[in-house]
Amino acid sequence: MYYEKNPKAAHDIHELTVKFLDTTMVFLTDAGVFSKKMIDYGSQVLLNNLDLEQGRTLLDVGCGYGPLGLTLGKVFDVNATLIDINSRAIDLAQKNADKNGVKATIFQSDIYENVSDHFDYIISNPPIRAGKAVVHEVISGAFDHLLPNGRLTIVIQKKQGAPSAKAKMEEVFGNCQIIKKDKGYYILESEKVCEQ
Ligand SMILES: C[S@@+](CC[C@H](N)C(=O)[O-])C[C@H]1O[C@@H](n2cnc3c(N)ncnc32)[C@H](O)[C@@H]1O
Repeated sequence: MYYEKNPKAAHDIHELTVKFLDTTMVFLTDAGVFSKKMIDYGSQVLLNNLDLEQGRTLLDVGCGYGPLGLTLGKVFDVNATLIDINSRAIDLAQKNADKNGVKATIFQSDIYENVSDHFDYIISNPPIRAGKAVVHEVISGAFDHLLPNGRLTIVIQKKQGAPSAKAKMEEVFGNCQIIKKDKGYYILESEKVCEQ
């Protein structure tokens, strides 16, 4: 299972070279991590629908081997923090940061357990297979870890619970926009609106 803390599957290292937003990235992947043979289509849709301000801070929740947080760190020059419960994913994300020359903070965490900072952006391709409760915790904990006017952006398939995730985001943030629909993948975004 890709969301285990310490996967025991025999290693099966692959190297993926991908071009996103005019930037070439190289990723090592392995057995026991999510989407090891190619970048997940939903993650690609999320990457292609974000516009971030240089120098801001970003948290990638459930980073896997790092395709989202590391690409965004490189393309937009944001200060990226990547977390995952899976130790093998964390080791790969660290290697991939070095491989792509991205300075990022990367550590193991069960959702937000080890996260003490606050961020301008939180993004996630959440772990649907870990269950709805985990996905909803990714959403509710994001509110507590965003700076005022920060944004949570997630990708989720309609058939895997986009309507329920949207309802949860509306409940927690008081707002949620569908910023893109592509082949059944929804990009959902909420802002932590703070009155001056
Ligand atoms: C759908 S995958 C996305 C991975 C990566 N962001 C990508 O786009 O390829 C979800 C990730 O969440 C991680 N995950 C599962 N449960 C978690 C938890 N409780 N805390 C943190 N990460 C978790 C999994 O290990 C997996 O890497």
